Amino acid sequence: MSASLRDKPIDRLTDAEAAKELKSLASEIALHDEAYHRDDAPTITDADYDALRNRNAAIENRFPKLVRTDSPSRKVGADVASGFKKVKHGTAMLSLDNLFSDDDVRDFDARIRRFLKLSADDNVEMTAEPKIDGLSFSARYDNGRLSVAATRGDGAEGEDITANMRTIKALPDLLMGDAPKVIEVRGEVYMTKADFLAMNDAQAKKGGKIFANPRNAAAGSLRQLDPKITAERPLRLFAYASGLVDGMDWETHWEFLRQLKAWGFPTNPDAKLCKSVDDIIGAYRKLESRRAALDYDIDGIVYKVNRIDWQKRLGFVSRAPRWASAHKFPAQQAETVLEEIEIQVGRTGALTPVAHLTPVNVGGVMVSRATLHNKDEIERKDIRKGDTVVIQRAGDVIPQIVEVKLDQRPKSSRKFAFPDHCPVCGSKAHREEDEAVMRCTGGLVCKAQAVERLRHFVSRDAFDIDGMGEKNIEAFFEDGTIKGPADLFTLEERDKNSLTPLRAKEGWGPQSAEKLFKAVNARRTVSLERLIYALGIRLIGQAKARLLAQNYGSFQKWRKAMVDIVNGDKDVYAQLEGIESFGEAVSDELVAFFAEKQNLDAVDRLYDQLEKVEDFVKADTSNSKIAGLTVVFTGNLERMTRNEAKSKAQSLGAKVSGSVSKNTDLVVAGPGAGSKLKEAEGLGVKVIDEEAFVRLIGG
Ligand code: IVH
Repeated sequence: MSASLRDKPIDRLTDAEAAKELKSLASEIALHDEAYHRDDAPTITDADYDALRNRNAAIENRFPKLVRTDSPSRKVGADVASGFKKVKHGTAMLSLDNLFSDDDVRDFDARIRRFLKLSADDNVEMTAEPKIDGLSFSARYDNGRLSVAATRGDGAEGEDITANMRTIKALPDLLMGDAPKVIEVRGEVYMTKADFLAMNDAQAKKGGKIFANPRNAAAGSLRQLDPKITAERPLRLFAYASGLVDGMDWETHWEFLRQLKAWGFPTNPDAKLCKSVDDIIGAYRKLESRRAALDYDIDGIVYKVNRIDWQKRLGFVSRAPRWASAHKFPAQQAETVLEEIEIQVGRTGALTPVAHLTPVNVGGVMVSRATLHNKDEIERKDIRKGDTVVIQRAGDVIPQIVEVKLDQRPKSSRKFAFPDHCPVCGSKAHREEDEAVMRCTGGLVCKAQAVERLRHFVSRDAFDIDGMGEKNIEAFFEDGTIKGPADLFTLEERDKNSLTPLRAKEGWGPQSAEKLFKAVNARRTVSLERLIYALGIRLIGQAKARLLAQNYGSFQKWRKAMVDIVNGDKDVYAQLEGIESFGEAVSDELVAFFAEKQNLDAVDRLYDQLEKVEDFVKADTSNSKIAGLTVVFTGNLERMTRNEAKSKAQSLGAKVSGSVSKNTDLVVAGPGAGSKLKEAEGLGVKVIDEEAFVRLIGG
């Protein structure tokens, strides 16, 4: 977006300008949504993101006719390539209202006393607990045994992460001592600062994904479709609340925390029981002074009314309890010197400025880089090499520069000149009129873009080829061994003919070469959705790749449609744009990709090398005995995990539900089944055991 348009007051926009800006906001917000939700790697601050959404909403408000089909305001969150099943929470997972000052805290206390009609000298006992900056979870125990664990999701239902949570040693599988019939235990999964730094180091060495901060690392590790990956990540947790409870109660929250500990959950050692509002403010000061020394990120302190009968009376307002609030810490800031501004070139050619800083400790994490976003941002803040800058880490964003200390600016300092050429390949850099970023026009000729694309191509969710770290890809690209995806598949053949004596290359021996060939050969058959995702087309993440595969069915049909669109076929374009959640911004990216002849050639050369691109298959349920039935699983399964059973049932056309009702057709009950089994019996729903289920689905 050109700076002038993005900054123009909304009441002065013409219709054409408003339309143009809504288009650019849609594509920009979609990119940020993917970065945040799919990659757990946001590239802008929450405040900047909110500003984009607010501007979008305000423009739509003034120009209701211009609201786009792909408008961010029509989407709830991002369409995530989740792959996880949904789980309904027994009671909603709420958020907390924020308090920012001592006055806010006193108001909070006063509100509670007013609500409960307490007198001025009645004190309200509260707990004060560190607010962990991680990812919240809810773990349900039936008769003391872990049955299902979920993310918070939208508060009413989350994603089923049971298999992943089971890999975290700190989460008890069986509660020690007496347990209620049902309890949902809630808490936060986090990563320590030290583990986060060590993990990022290891990831960098093997060319894996680097996370911006411990929170994103924890979230990214937990939301893995393969629990084996989660198991390798150093995840920890604290338990701090309950959801649905059946068969036990407590008089105070403090008592409940002790019970959690007795059951075997880690609880936070810095939680305090406070007698009065002065006490909780004191606890806040104390914890704030120790914040940087803690081995994990916290972003505030949570106060909770201790008496549970009072909690019940206080209840909720919209999505937050009246009996609890979060007192936030200010963002952690530090001063340092900006040594260099580096321009990095990404997979899609975007030139992103990055600040290299004299390393500085910000809240216990050493920071040596900060994002500068784009050209406009540098100009707006007039950021220059040699400046002393204030940087901050705020909650879940990567470090950013909040202020330039102009009084400390060296005399010799000069304005930063944003390059108009790609620093890697020298091609001209171009800025689309409605975009904030400059892009290298070198396409696959540009080493930076080619290497980033190859890296994406071999990554786990794409072709998943082991043994091709960043260093290898760069070296191969530089000496011309591999220029594009197809070359990976001809490597073995060429190596046999001594065209690329890989076995003689530095760092390679016959063994590692064989291993790579094997890894490559194992991927000559690939699903259409993976192939599409692997191409690394802008805005086409896993979710959109899957939708494309689903809509076109086969590689040939998809390819033909793309070529037809490039040749101007309006009907085919309309069909593409009509795919759920696509719209113009996404469709235009696809068209732009295929309009480049070199891209179509690269896709065709790749296709020639593959044995098979599997069509998108809708599950065949013609022989299924459970197609159309609503099935509920309860208790423990022994021959498969609950997740496997569910996905098997779904692939055979059944609907899997988390609770028993009169609409349930079948309950599969294992040992330890409790309330659901009883309900099923009460309703006369058919109940079978795991053995019978296995027979039913054909072994
Ligand atoms: S209690 C109804 N305690 O903060 C009360 N939440 O901003 C439920 N959080 O969604 C929450 N540490 O993910 C509670 N000690 C703590 C917490 C905590 C972190 C998170 C939690 C919640 C969010 C609200």
